[in-house]
Amino acid sequence: MIQLVIGSQWGDEGKGKVVDMMAQNAHMVVRFHGGNNAGHTVVINGKKFPFHLIPSGILQKKPVVIIADGVVIDPDVLLEEMAIFEKMGINLKKKLVISPRCHLIMPYHKELDQAYENARGKNKLGTTKRGIGPVYADKVSYNGIRIYELLNWPLFVEKFKFQAAIKNKILITFGVSPIKVETYLPIFKKLAEKIRPMIDDTFSLFQKAIQQKKQILLEGAHGVMLDNSFGLYPYVTASNVIEGGVNIGSGIPSKKIEEIWGVVKAYTSRVGGGPLPTELFDKVADVIREKGYEYGTTTGRPRRIGWLDLAAVKFACQLSSINRIAITKIDILSGLSQIKVCLGYRLNGKKIAFSQCGYQELEKLTPVYKNFSGWKEDISKIKSFNKLPKNCQKYVKFIEKYLDVKVKIISVSPERKASIFL
Ligand code: GDP
Ligand code: IMO
Ligand code: MG
Repeated sequence: MIQLVIGSQWGDEGKGKVVDMMAQNAHMVVRFHGGNNAGHTVVINGKKFPFHLIPSGILQKKPVVIIADGVVIDPDVLLEEMAIFEKMGINLKKKLVISPRCHLIMPYHKELDQAYENARGKNKLGTTKRGIGPVYADKVSYNGIRIYELLNWPLFVEKFKFQAAIKNKILITFGVSPIKVETYLPIFKKLAEKIRPMIDDTFSLFQKAIQQKKQILLEGAHGVMLDNSFGLYPYVTASNVIEGGVNIGSGIPSKKIEEIWGVVKAYTSRVGGGPLPTELFDKVADVIREKGYEYGTTTGRPRRIGWLDLAAVKFACQLSSINRIAITKIDILSGLSQIKVCLGYRLNGKKIAFSQCGYQELEKLTPVYKNFSGWKEDISKIKSFNKLPKNCQKYVKFIEKYLDVKVKIISVSPERKASIFL
């Protein structure tokens, strides 16, 4: 069986926790897009494990974890992450597979990301500055360098030098110092030697696994509202977050995916710029941010907070055929006297659908809210739906009905074991 977990909002929905949980039964856990702009957290007995590139399933015994074709790899970050898990005694030669098709984030990609942001000034997008936009731009314009090239050192050096010479001209235009290829060769050499035994034809591995009816768990990154085509462009990321991204980023045909899990945080958060229709600027936002520890896993930036935007989540469900919901962080809403949910928007007095909005419309929208009464109880240890406070049950049931998708998991604390299964 093939399962996919995707973020239904603006990222940081709690995908890491859900993936770790589901990975218990998986043979393979696969990242298929994005890079270390992602930050997925798993918490086991109070210990936090942040993941940026290696799939969040690595802490489970059973699965092999795979970095598939669509992922972009920063050598420093991969080496660092590998070192963490090796220190824990995990044998990565047996546990980790990397596709030779993955593109490398080169030093000039990070410089360009930063330079573009600086040049945008007050219109900056708020990227993670990890070089994501520039590396994907090079991929689609045939200027990328892949893991494949890394296996042929003279070819890699030649390509690196050619690209760096061009990128340095652009950097100089931005007033940024050019990069020196020689400075970076040792880290790429180190990466090449280290990952050589882990590089394999992931397409064949997936085909075999599909034939043998193995369980494959696909770990989406970011959130549908950050999808390069369907998000609020240009306040998006560079990869395809939606279900179609699986085929593009791993070669696994979409038709083979049976379960598509949408992770829905019980409220909204977003890091970076761009419109957030239900954004809160009052004390409630501060309470949620502190209680929910809403600070970026990757950049440490405080996350912006808003009410749950169900109109946006519905759009995500429709776009990606989401057929199961995991609600996360509903424990953070405990103690609020009133909770709001957005069911649509008005622009100049007229109803407007999320799918009709570019970012300029979204900045001027008035959300249409439904109000819910809150609950006071701490729910972080509750194990069954019936034990949840009645108002909390009503909130969950409403989400399910509105989205017309079954809620199957309710996560009530960061801890691995703290979830209600329905
Ligand atoms: P991801 O990018 O979707 O994997 O999410 P992040 O890891 O960036 O952010 C989610 C944060 O919420 C992490 O710190 C998680 O440990 C935490 N978390 C996940 N689920 C829950 C939950 O149900 N309740 C609480 N309180 N925290 C959660
Ligand atoms: P996970 O997987 C939250 C956001 C950035 C920025 C925009 C573009 O942890 O949910 P980029 O560096 O990708 O060019 O930045 O996308 N962004 C995320 N926000 N969670 C993420 O990943 C994100 N990945 C990208 O903050 O607004
Ligand atoms: Mg995150």
